[in-house]
Amino acid sequence: MQVLLTEAQIARRLRELAREVSRDFLGKTPVLIGILKGSVFLLADLMRLLEVDHEVDFISISSYASGVSSSGTVRLLKDLDTDISGRDILIVEDIIDSGLSLSYLRKNLLSRNPRSLAILTLLDKRVPRERQVYVDYVGFEIEDRFVIGYGLDHAERYRELPHVALLEQEDATRSER
Ligand code: IMP
Ligand code: MG
Repeated sequence: MQVLLTEAQIARRLRELAREVSRDFLGKTPVLIGILKGSVFLLADLMRLLEVDHEVDFISISSYASGVSSSGTVRLLKDLDTDISGRDILIVEDIIDSGLSLSYLRKNLLSRNPRSLAILTLLDKRVPRERQVYVDYVGFEIEDRFVIGYGLDHAERYRELPHVALLEQEDATRSER
């Protein structure tokens, strides 16, 4: 398995991001919106590093059916429980690939009239974007390769890895069984 980002690298970067977010949201009580399921590790780690009061909620959308390529459509699978109108929102996402998911989500959440909306992603793939999405906080820019671990899956496997690794042929074969 080829490790792309170690547990220590991720932890160090998260401490920096948490400091930035804490500074930017000083005096506010943002609602962190985790996009299921890939962002759960990131969200849990971020929450424990933030120095501002905050709430959390979850939303689930699907753009990838399974496998490694985007289907091109986004569906809302589970909505928020929170009424976000007038609230400061921070979307917490694992990775941006085509940008389809986030541009859909951004539009969807903005229609509910939050006071502000910012986006944090752990990984930003360097790919030509179908949709341009402005991201406020980026953990790491990575090459256009399929990655697994730290919440990211391939066919629902490998989320539990503490690091981010490149998906290799043998891993792909194993998770397709
Ligand atoms: P987008 O809509 O193409 O930006 O895709 C975003 C979603 O696709 C992410 O939230 C992930 O769930 C999934 N995804 C994209 N690239 C990868 C990857 O390399 N590994 C695992 N999941 C990925
Ligand atoms: Mg996702």
